[in-house]
Amino acid sequence: MKKVLDVQNIEKFYGTNDSLTKALNKISFSVEEGEFIGIMGPSGSGKTTLLNCVSTIDRVTSGHIYIGGKDITTLKGKDLSKFRRDELGFIFQDFNLLDTLTAYENIALALTIQKQNPAIIEERVLAVAEKLEIVDVLQKFPYQMSGGQKQRVASARALVHDPSLILADEPTGALDSKSSRMLLDSIEKLNQELQATIMMVTHDSFTASYAKRILFIKDGKIFNELHRGNDTRKEFFNKIIEVVTLMGGDVSNVL
Ligand SMILES: Nc1ncnc2c1ncn2[C@@H]1O[C@H](COP(=O)(O)OP(=O)(O)OP(=O)(O)O)[C@@H](O)[C@H]1O
Ligand SMILES: [Mg+2]
Repeated sequence: MKKVLDVQNIEKFYGTNDSLTKALNKISFSVEEGEFIGIMGPSGSGKTTLLNCVSTIDRVTSGHIYIGGKDITTLKGKDLSKFRRDELGFIFQDFNLLDTLTAYENIALALTIQKQNPAIIEERVLAVAEKLEIVDVLQKFPYQMSGGQKQRVASARALVHDPSLILADEPTGALDSKSSRMLLDSIEKLNQELQATIMMVTHDSFTASYAKRILFIKDGKIFNELHRGNDTRKEFFNKIIEVVTLMGGDVSNVL
């Protein structure tokens, strides 16, 4: 199996000597092509910091992060923005759709920027829209869509350019339970049918139970790891809750 992501001994410190926060304290793990990995941990444990370092939004203090064999901690300027645009897909909590563009235009944007041929763009947009069941909203603007539809349009946009790695930060954070399920079913489909490699940060055990493997972080370190194996989602969910309880997580976050 090919390693898509290889995180080696990374540290991220904030502040100075007298008020130093070790947000990430020597973290190492790797993600193989086609994996769907969840990152969980209590508030302040370093989840967002980890995602931001992997997504090149933030810089590590030390250590290395390889994506597709390339050390992204040394990329700068134009190379960095090209890498981010071509190799990564993002699914954010607040969708980040452009209000003045239709769903179709929002999804096509990454390919338009790459100056792809319009016929290829149309083919790719339609293919992902069919997978995510949003063909009927392609001509709508974001204000004309439901929250769940917007989130699925945002997911389509994250993967239309076939990135090496899709990064999701609390993707269900703003959704009701029905929309959350629909989005998670879609993300699961992308992983199973299109072999998309996904790394998802979440507080929520139900959301996490869709992943195939979970890394739990606490105080900037890896605390535990769970593999779904042949468990049903419900069985996996119960195991996740056990670890969350063990970590002293906020139980209200679990529901
Ligand atoms: N810009 C910053 N300056 C100083 N400290 C920071 C900064 N960003 C994060 N931290 C600290 O780093 C630690 C990890 O923060 P991080 O945002 O990664 O947590 P998290 O696991 O995403 O938490 P949450 O679940 O609440 O979103 C926290 O102690 C936080 O206070
Ligand atoms: Mg966070």
